[in-house]
Amino acid sequence: MSLRTHLDHLKSTGTMQQIEKPVSKYLEAAGILKALEPQPVAFQSIKESDFRVMGNLCCTKQSFADYLGIPVEALIPTLLLAIDHPSRPEVISDPPCQEVIIDEPDLDDLPILFHCEGDGGNYISSGVMIAGHPVYGQNMDFHRCMQFSKTEMAVRVVKTRHFDTFLQDLGAVDVAICIGVAPNILVAAATSVEIGVDELGIAHALEPFPVAKAATSNLLIPAEAEFVIEGTVYRDRRHAEGPFVDLTETQDVIREEPVLEVKCITHRKDPLWHVLLPGGLEHKLLMGMPREPTIFREVNNVVHCLDVNINPGGCSWLHTIVKIRKEQEDDGRKAIDAASRGHRSCKHIFVVDEDIDIYDPLSVEWALATRFQADRDLFWLGRERGSSLDPSAEPGTYETCKVGFDLTAPLETAGKHFNKVPFPEVDLSEFL
Ligand SMILES: Cc1cc2nc3c(=O)[nH]c(=O)nc-3n(C[C@H](O)[C@H](O)[C@H](O)COP(=O)(O)O)c2cc1C
Repeated sequence: MSLRTHLDHLKSTGTMQQIEKPVSKYLEAAGILKALEPQPVAFQSIKESDFRVMGNLCCTKQSFADYLGIPVEALIPTLLLAIDHPSRPEVISDPPCQEVIIDEPDLDDLPILFHCEGDGGNYISSGVMIAGHPVYGQNMDFHRCMQFSKTEMAVRVVKTRHFDTFLQDLGAVDVAICIGVAPNILVAAATSVEIGVDELGIAHALEPFPVAKAATSNLLIPAEAEFVIEGTVYRDRRHAEGPFVDLTETQDVIREEPVLEVKCITHRKDPLWHVLLPGGLEHKLLMGMPREPTIFREVNNVVHCLDVNINPGGCSWLHTIVKIRKEQEDDGRKAIDAASRGHRSCKHIFVVDEDIDIYDPLSVEWALATRFQADRDLFWLGRERGSSLDPSAEPGTYETCKVGFDLTAPLETAGKHFNKVPFPEVDLSEFL
């Protein structure tokens, strides 16, 4: 389903909140999106721009599963299949995303939001960046961009990203930043696969769509993107980037980051600008959900894994809850080690039995309270490099203490009871 078809569906089912009154791109739009989260919102009028804005597009697993037309339980196998079998999109000419071509771009014309008090500037937070390399081919991922002039932005590039390899190798990299793309493209951009695998192929395997050649380079871009910002990122041209709210909802520091020089902006007729709230539920979903299949695969190699949840309470990055069918006493420990291999940034891993609801924090805490003894079931995985997003990690090295909690009940119960006793089922209508 294209983004526009999806949005029409959200409108016709009354899922999307339409806001007709003019709203400012400075603080107001972000505040409204946060207050209405997780409901999708469309702003019909932005005071400082001629373009419409939408946000909270895909804040929950349920909304992404609905977009794909599958149940939530099918998400991990569906993502695994797409990651393992990327497919090639059809290339078309005269794409909708180039209905309007602006050769003398001015970023001030766009509804680039100023999200929170203390931010370093207006930020593009939903931009999917497509870049090319002569050896590795195309790569697609996210890089937030802070506007600092009419044509320049500072681009946050974490050292381990494939785009950073492109930048280090080439010095100057042509990019296309696509804003307003369908959820399959957003999720695929957030997967971390081998360098050389084009994430556009993963997006296409999830839900087919056409691509087209960018206006100023040979990059292939989603033909139905609402906006495409084309330009060059320079390794050795730097500008201060930040502060900005990060995934943990805390403020990230100011860094000297590479500069993007914008050369051209293309867009559809009457386009919609997508806003992705930093640290919001949509940001969290896109960070955590694509890591669940890799954890599932690692855990399933050593024990019987039933489900994985990288939950928003753990910033959808630092905590993982793994559900297993326990067959050996040490299955919990094995699952902890495997989950850590499946997501190197994870700090705390919780392994539970199949009767625990891994989407309900109370259920997981109940397992912690009734099945866990710290001297027996707490596994210290050592101090090692963790996530750059964790404010409590060692500054600079990001060294962090990783721990696993085996919350499974012992197989040998020694006469103790570990299962919740069900109350009798009654038909309340007979009594009320
Ligand atoms: C909404 C969102 C925003 C992100 N912002 C950034 C960013 O500003 N800089 C960065 O280096 N990674 C960012 N990431 C993470 C990468 O895009 C993500 O880890 C991606 O999988 C890396 O791709 P790669 O494996 O091709 O390097 C963001 C991810 C999401 C979902």
